[in-house]
Amino acid sequence: SKLVGLVGWRGMVGSVLMDRMQAEGDFDLIEPIFFSTSNAGGKAPAQARTHTTLQDANDISALARCDIIITAQGGDYTKAVYGPLRASGWQGHWIDAASSLRMEDDAVIVLDPVNDDLIQAKLAAGGKNWIGGNCTNSILLMGLSGLFKAGLVEWVSSMTYQAASGGGANHMRELLKGMGVVHAAVSDALATPASAILDIDRQVAQTIRNDVPTEYFGAPLAGGLIPWIDVQLPNGQSKEEWKGQAEVNKILGTSATIPVDGLCVRIGAMRCHSLALTLKLKHDLPLAEIETLIQSGNPWVKFVANDRALTVKELTPAAVTGGLEVAVGRVRKLNMGPEYLSAFVIGDQLLWGAAEPLRRMLRILLT
Ligand code: HSE
Repeated sequence: SKLVGLVGWRGMVGSVLMDRMQAEGDFDLIEPIFFSTSNAGGKAPAQARTHTTLQDANDISALARCDIIITAQGGDYTKAVYGPLRASGWQGHWIDAASSLRMEDDAVIVLDPVNDDLIQAKLAAGGKNWIGGNCTNSILLMGLSGLFKAGLVEWVSSMTYQAASGGGANHMRELLKGMGVVHAAVSDALATPASAILDIDRQVAQTIRNDVPTEYFGAPLAGGLIPWIDVQLPNGQSKEEWKGQAEVNKILGTSATIPVDGLCVRIGAMRCHSLALTLKLKHDLPLAEIETLIQSGNPWVKFVANDRALTVKELTPAAVTGGLEVAVGRVRKLNMGPEYLSAFVIGDQLLWGAAEPLRRMLRILLT
């Protein structure tokens, strides 16, 4: 079986990847070899059968023995290791969660329920670089692949509600610490039914301004939101916003660019990214046909009828977190005209948003 090197398997995305690979029996089909940037020579995890010692993730010749490498180690690692590895003559497959190589011509952004045709074409042409997409874009496309595949989408305005996990494990911890700090500041008053809510609110506002930790997010997130994700670009977009159009079109392999733009906002959810979408369709279609198209986009779509009770039960982080289903709801025609559609898409940022497309690409390479 293929020698598959795993790098960054201990981090958050890597751990989700390992769990999914375990659950799907992927390790039975490969000969795994585990790498580490900090603990080479240590003991590999239980999934290792023959290669029970951790290899040095910066050792190019050790990496070059692998038929396939999967990394969730991060962009800095990719930047440091990928070039020298290829320069050494390595011809293996590189599967990567980081964005560093995503927009390279020889790379496919992998999301096989949406772009298996592109993946197969690149494979046949000798492609070797398979990069996971930005979480928000993968979730958007998993949710609405039915409309995109039908060629119905003229443009998309995408307003996002992105979870703390998109920043990383430290960001999730910071969110929770902030929630605790806010609560602690008013817990006594809160326990007293007679206390004045405006006094509590004043204390909360002061706590959010002064005491909520901001080391990782750079601004208080608990009890609030941050309407900027990633670095600023000269045109006024955030880099996260820029990725929308660039990646969606690359994933779909469009010949004419579908405009995708909107604001990306960090909110206090743990690991579910949501998107409030406005779509302009190329032509008017009855709502029932639109719903059927969305539902039949791929097996992971969970369509939620545009009904209040169902929406608050099914179309929330609480309902969706930790699962592979991508929920799609709030689908209705907008006042702007019959071609204008709203939709709300929500998915687990660490599953379809990060780990799942990688392990599925591994499976494709093994067939
Ligand atoms: N950049 C995304 C976020 C996660 O910060 O939510 C990575 O795709």
